[in-house]
Amino acid sequence: MLIKTMYDYYVEADFQPTFANSKGDFNLKDYAAHRHDFFTSKLKLPNQLFKFSELLEFGPDTGENALVFAGMEANVTLCEPNPNCLPHIESYFDRYQLNSYLQNIYTNDVASFSIDKLYDFIVAEGFIYTVQPTESWIAKFASLLKDDGFIIISYYDDCGSFVELFHKLLLHYATISSSKNKNLAEELFREKWNSINHTRSFDSWSKDVLLNPFVRYKYFLHLPLLLKSFHKQGLQTYSSWPNYQDSTRIYWHKAPVTREQELSYQIEHIKRSSLSYVLGKKAYMFGDMAEVTKVNEFLANIFSFADSKLDQNSNLVFSDMRKIIGELLDVLRSSSSISNIDNIITFYETLEIILQHMEENNFDELINICNSNPIFLNTWGMANQYVVLKKGVAHG
Ligand SMILES: C[S@@+](CC[C@H](N)C(=O)[O-])C[C@H]1O[C@@H](n2cnc3c(N)ncnc32)[C@H](O)[C@@H]1O
Repeated sequence: MLIKTMYDYYVEADFQPTFANSKGDFNLKDYAAHRHDFFTSKLKLPNQLFKFSELLEFGPDTGENALVFAGMEANVTLCEPNPNCLPHIESYFDRYQLNSYLQNIYTNDVASFSIDKLYDFIVAEGFIYTVQPTESWIAKFASLLKDDGFIIISYYDDCGSFVELFHKLLLHYATISSSKNKNLAEELFREKWNSINHTRSFDSWSKDVLLNPFVRYKYFLHLPLLLKSFHKQGLQTYSSWPNYQDSTRIYWHKAPVTREQELSYQIEHIKRSSLSYVLGKKAYMFGDMAEVTKVNEFLANIFSFADSKLDQNSNLVFSDMRKIIGELLDVLRSSSSISNIDNIITFYETLEIILQHMEENNFDELINICNSNPIFLNTWGMANQYVVLKKGVAHG
């Protein structure tokens, strides 16, 4: 089968990435409580907003999120191109007696979906970054949205996803270099996986990230460009996680701020936050913009070198990556305007050491670092970011 889309991959790999009921232990009450809290406290979308709304969700997988929307009394329309998901969705809605909120299930993908109807909410979590060109889905979502309606999306961006990309690189290297061909992912990452709280299995993460051909740099969204594309379609950032608004910016609430100014404040804030996204911890660059630009150029080079090695099946060399990391470290070590700087330096020094072990084929030492180095174990980055967009009204 030719794999052209992320759902082709899920069909081929025969799995539903977010299915939480494989052992029959999905607890809707707990899951809904978590989602309500996330929507209210982080995305500023209280439950009441969903009540009696018309909501269109693309890519619901087996429908756990759709159940929560229906539980908040949204009228839910689903659009899921993977046919293996449909029986799970239907059985979930039966089990929780929420069928009266389920309007329709379409089997189109985003590109082929078309309907003569407008919605209060359009939701696409976990895959939209793989639909390209980016402008095509943004224009489609904007055209399906009522005035004052909301779009909720989550995606992999280039900075926040670097650590996951690096995990893929480690596994790729290990697969090429080790004589063992079984359980390499477990050997490398089991300890790291076990060190965090999560609801998904190691196997599901492994298929959905480590082996997923769509978790690649060419698909990851570049936030400044993304926000500009939203702006062109009349969509304003309403809320996001992490927060794209610089909440330390103080001004009188009646002071006029145009949408263009708001956009440029957000883009500057995002550029200053790139290291925070890479590490998944506060690492804000509060100094000169020239330094920020320099750091971001180094980061982009590191991402692209790391990704390019995933296409090579022998003789991996890491000297290019190590050189750029060395240059980045020189800037970081001489900077006095980046918060949490010691942590960031240790992170990049750890990457340098790991790359050196890979270059020298010290496989045992590599496994040892992956299972014991605290900075490696505790750093996951900030993949899967959320933004809520609003059509029409600006939000400062
Ligand atoms: C990673 S899962 C996320 C499931 C759910 N939205 C969540 O966040 O828990 C991605 C889902 O999007 C679907 N999908 C992938 N590409 C799609 C596309 N081009 N159009 C619509 N759905 C797509 C997949 O079949 C899968 O169900």
